[in-house]
Amino acid sequence: MCPVPGETTQPVENPVVAVVGATGGLGSAISRELARRGARLVLTGRDPARLQELSEALPGSASAVLDLHDPDAGDLLVASATAAFGRLDVLVNAAGIVAFGTLADTPDIVIEELFLTNVVGPLWLLRRCLPLLQASQGTVVQLSAVVAEQPLPGMAAYSATKAALSAADAALARELRRVGVRVLDVRPPHTNTGLHERPLHGSPPRLSEGLDPQEVARVIADALAEPKRHQLAAADFGTTSSTAPTSTSSQSTSSQSTSGQSTEGAPHE
Ligand SMILES: NC(=O)c1ccc[n+]([C@@H]2O[C@H](COP(=O)([O-])OP(=O)(O)OC[C@H]3O[C@@H](n4cnc5c(N)ncnc54)[C@H](OP(=O)(O)O)[C@@H]3O)[C@@H](O)[C@H]2O)c1
Repeated sequence: MCPVPGETTQPVENPVVAVVGATGGLGSAISRELARRGARLVLTGRDPARLQELSEALPGSASAVLDLHDPDAGDLLVASATAAFGRLDVLVNAAGIVAFGTLADTPDIVIEELFLTNVVGPLWLLRRCLPLLQASQGTVVQLSAVVAEQPLPGMAAYSATKAALSAADAALARELRRVGVRVLDVRPPHTNTGLHERPLHGSPPRLSEGLDPQEVARVIADALAEPKRHQLAAADFGTTSSTAPTSTSSQSTSSQSTSGQSTEGAPHE
């Protein structure tokens, strides 16, 4: 059983949870943890093969291939959740991308894609899911990041996307409370998913040891079961500065970027 109480409703047994970015490091850990607690899952990702692999590992789950850049992605998710389970209790947005480097060295297209993926797409998607979440008196969980609280040089655009998402979450927590939908803003420190090894642009700073994705997923699942929780700050994961890039390493990012050799892993260059 996985109770997901709203502030005005009784806990839901075996809630229907949609995980956007379920094929990612945090998304898959969250999906597995919630499945273990009894959730019925709607898994999403962009890669059909990886999505199928995850669906097979989590029997009984539904899945939908979607891209947050598509304004209609939310309609697809609503259709999938409705067809499979007839409802949606929790929407977890665990999709996102990162980029590194000074602003001067960051191409316009990278800034645009960061905001499209990390802010605009999630808001488009949430709009479409609101009627189902309102009907279930449900919850939306947004994966922001520690840099929303501690923006870093060499990560200005990424930090700005996460601060924007957390700002939207703070406003939405109050706006949606009136209609019985809870917003949980989650700002994890660096976590060992490999995200920093596949940036859209630039090279990562030297990072301290990251958190275990399974432990992060467990903390998020526990918070989901606490009806009055509206945020998980970086400190709620047990540590902050030790898992954020150091100022020294941020300077090293800048120098890497100004060398012009900072396009590792950039699929859209
Ligand atoms: N890892 C960390 O240190 C850390 C710390 C704090 C916050 N976060 C945040 O947590 C979230 C998940 O990060 P992660 O570490 O799990 O990264 P990840 O392993 O790279 O997973 C990212 C997920 O986002 C999906 N995605 C990317 N672009 C998308 C798009 N346009 N439309 C739909 N899905 C898209 C990916 O799908 P594909 O499989 O199709 O690429 C993948 O499922 C991100 O928002 C990240 O900023 C991460």
